[in-house]
Amino acid sequence: MQWQENDNLASLEAMKKKAFQGGGAKRIETQHKKGKLTARERIELLLDEGSFEEFDLLKSGQASDSADEYAGDGVITGHGTIGGREVCIFSQDFTILGGSLGQAHSGKISKIMDHAVTVGAPIIGLNDSGGARIQEGVDSLAAYGEIFSRNVLASGVVPQISCIMGPCAGGAVYSPAMTDFTFMVEDSSYMFVTGPNVVKTVTHQDISAEELGGAQVHSQKSGVAHFVLPNDILCLREVRRLINYLPSNNRQTAPLLDLRDPVDRTDPALDYLIPSNPNQTYDMKILITSILDGAEFLEYQAQFARNIICGFGRLGGQTIGLIANQPAVLAGVLDVNASTKAARFVRFCDSFNIPLICLVDVPGFMPGPEQEHGGIIRHGAKLLFAFVEATVPRITVILRKAYGGAYVVMNSKHIRCDVNFAWPTAEIAVLGPKGAAEIIYRKEIQEAENPEDLLARKTEEYRRTFANPFLAAKKGYIDDVITPRDTRQRLIRSLQFLESKDKKNPSSKHGNIPL
Ligand code: HXC
Repeated sequence: MQWQENDNLASLEAMKKKAFQGGGAKRIETQHKKGKLTARERIELLLDEGSFEEFDLLKSGQASDSADEYAGDGVITGHGTIGGREVCIFSQDFTILGGSLGQAHSGKISKIMDHAVTVGAPIIGLNDSGGARIQEGVDSLAAYGEIFSRNVLASGVVPQISCIMGPCAGGAVYSPAMTDFTFMVEDSSYMFVTGPNVVKTVTHQDISAEELGGAQVHSQKSGVAHFVLPNDILCLREVRRLINYLPSNNRQTAPLLDLRDPVDRTDPALDYLIPSNPNQTYDMKILITSILDGAEFLEYQAQFARNIICGFGRLGGQTIGLIANQPAVLAGVLDVNASTKAARFVRFCDSFNIPLICLVDVPGFMPGPEQEHGGIIRHGAKLLFAFVEATVPRITVILRKAYGGAYVVMNSKHIRCDVNFAWPTAEIAVLGPKGAAEIIYRKEIQEAENPEDLLARKTEEYRRTFANPFLAAKKGYIDDVITPRDTRQRLIRSLQFLESKDKKNPSSKHGNIPL
């Protein structure tokens, strides 16, 4: 039998060699010319060196006449490590039938997704595909359904990350859309339900792929992409960075990482961060980088709804999810996009045991017909819903404005926040001082000899009486009014205190968040 084994060994090597060539040298060259790496090069860069274990290398496309012609069927799947922790991965090979998705291809992805859920490892998809494999007809549509179902059942169980590193058209966009994080690469990736040709046929509109669904569009306008990087290499590096902030699954907490930043570090400059003029703005990122370990912050949807900031950082080595109003953009007001952006981020953190830190300076919800007709009630309710249902440790610091409904929504004590701090500069009230004075003293102001002067005096009077943190603190709505310079150490102490928090919501099939 010895000869037969050797024969098989030789066959195996030949099959592997062929599989490793993907769609051949010419197509690989075309891929490189487009500024794109191949599916295997991407895996190598993403994972710890030498850690990749491949599954189904020899699985071939069922519609193929020649069984080994498309060995691997246009997708590479397996597992490996990032920073020493296991992740499951699939990487579509555009050099084989344009990375299009048929039954065998989908079966490989489904298998590795099933493993991810069973072992509790994040699943990372590197997407580069022409969509449903046309030759396989309805089977390829069924194959997408298999993946969509797994995306949903894995949601909240293991982190799911999608990198769009080439075309992503048709139904193919819906799998990434259901994952937790979508990365896009500038100039070489795009996502749309129907491409430019269909748009032209149906609407007679001329539009390029880039204008229709490029990285800029999805990071700034639609909010579909959460992270945008200039090329494949930087994109994969950023995925590694993100993974380091996350737990592997919903049964674990995120790994601790000591950045050697003293937990009792204070920052006296913070005492002067809030301008004395309440209408003057400042950059919330100054506070964020001041308090976080090593000033390291991974911002989520950095270019979308910039009036709210979301992202990951560390406090005392522990990953936290940070949500902060940005007074430097639209005065930090809550609008439709800010609400949905923050709501989804809060829900991710809550699913994966990541404590929430909320930094508040919010003048309210954005008024006007555009927002009302755009459904600010429905969308604002998402953020409210997301905070209320969150059972992870929750801490809020109110820096300046916290008015009306926005005060309640931004992780207030009344919606189950654990520890609520305010700076002495906080203004916690039903309305801003000017708006409040205009309503309460309308008659007097109308009848006054100098209405503007009276309004200014009444505004100042209201500010002194109501727009401060002390009334809320007297009622226990604020646990402590803290010195700004101490913010970092107070947050870290509170996180330590809340580490053993054990809170559960009443059992239900699932809540009905206002989608
Ligand atoms: C089979 C495909 C394919 C597909 C591309 N190829 N898309 N093969 N099924 N869907 C093959 C091409 O024949 C070609 O093969 C190779 O991949 C590279 O394609 P090119 O067109 O040469 O590359 P490029 O110019 O870069 O254009 C890429 C592209 C274009 C924009 C993706 O190929 C394209 O528009 N493809 C069709 C996209 C599409 O309509 N897909 C169906 C979407 S509907 P050779 O042998 O020449 O290298 C869908 C429904 C899902 O996905 C529903 C789920 C519910």
